[in-house]
Amino acid sequence: MPLRREARAPMTHWNAAEYARSARFVADLATPLVDLLAPKPGETVLDLGCGDGVLAAEIQARGAAVIGIDASSDMVAAARARGIDARLMPGEAIAFDRAFDAVFSNAALHWMRDLPAVFAGVARALKPKGRFVAEMGGEGNVASIVGALDGAFRRRGLRAPKLWIFPSPEAAAALLSRAGFRIETLELFERPTRLPGDLRDWLEIFAAGYLALVPEAERRTLVEEVRAALYPHRFSDGVWTLDYVRLRFSARLRQGDDAHPPAASITAA
Ligand code: BEZ
Repeated sequence: MPLRREARAPMTHWNAAEYARSARFVADLATPLVDLLAPKPGETVLDLGCGDGVLAAEIQARGAAVIGIDASSDMVAAARARGIDARLMPGEAIAFDRAFDAVFSNAALHWMRDLPAVFAGVARALKPKGRFVAEMGGEGNVASIVGALDGAFRRRGLRAPKLWIFPSPEAAAALLSRAGFRIETLELFERPTRLPGDLRDWLEIFAAGYLALVPEAERRTLVEEVRAALYPHRFSDGVWTLDYVRLRFSARLRQGDDAHPPAASITAA
């Protein structure tokens, strides 16, 4: 595969063992997305933000050749241990040229800081008429968590960061179009998501970037505060259920002069 440029160092630290314990549901819920991708034997697929490679392995089992990329070295190691050709590469610096029939991504794009750069890289990585099939958090995703974290930061005189980007369908459509894609399907839908354990575990994995911004001695208190705020609304019959909203799309690279336009230099946040 022709590389465009060197990968940059990862910016996020993920613990693959912890993720496997508490976040397996992320991949378990992605079968409809793999069905939408419909990988075929002989195809080459890039799994963008492959994590520990569970879905890359599923795509490979359906006959396609898969390369996974992720910005976390721990996740890349876990994916390699699963037999995936995984590379350390951030989504904003995809280093392939016209190499893949399809780019696939599940629950990864909302972590990436510069979606125009990511989508432009996806367009470059695809062969003519290649497809981009992805799911990410969409507008309103985990609004209860975002609100509770904002409140907890405000009470401490701090401004909560924007760690995640959850675009509206209109914003996603504009980004795809600017990157040279024709949209085939694009939907925003609520998917209330049952957690396998306590909200504390979810916060420690998915909101680690928030927790890292408060002094260590304060983190536990902040987690308990967020948990207490959500408990009446999100805990029932012994199960935590979060207000996930998914944005799922399938888009195809346009052919002709308007494909591969320069990416707009905006950072969605
Ligand atoms: C998600 O997959 O929707 C998600 C991931 C991390 C934080 C919040 C939401």
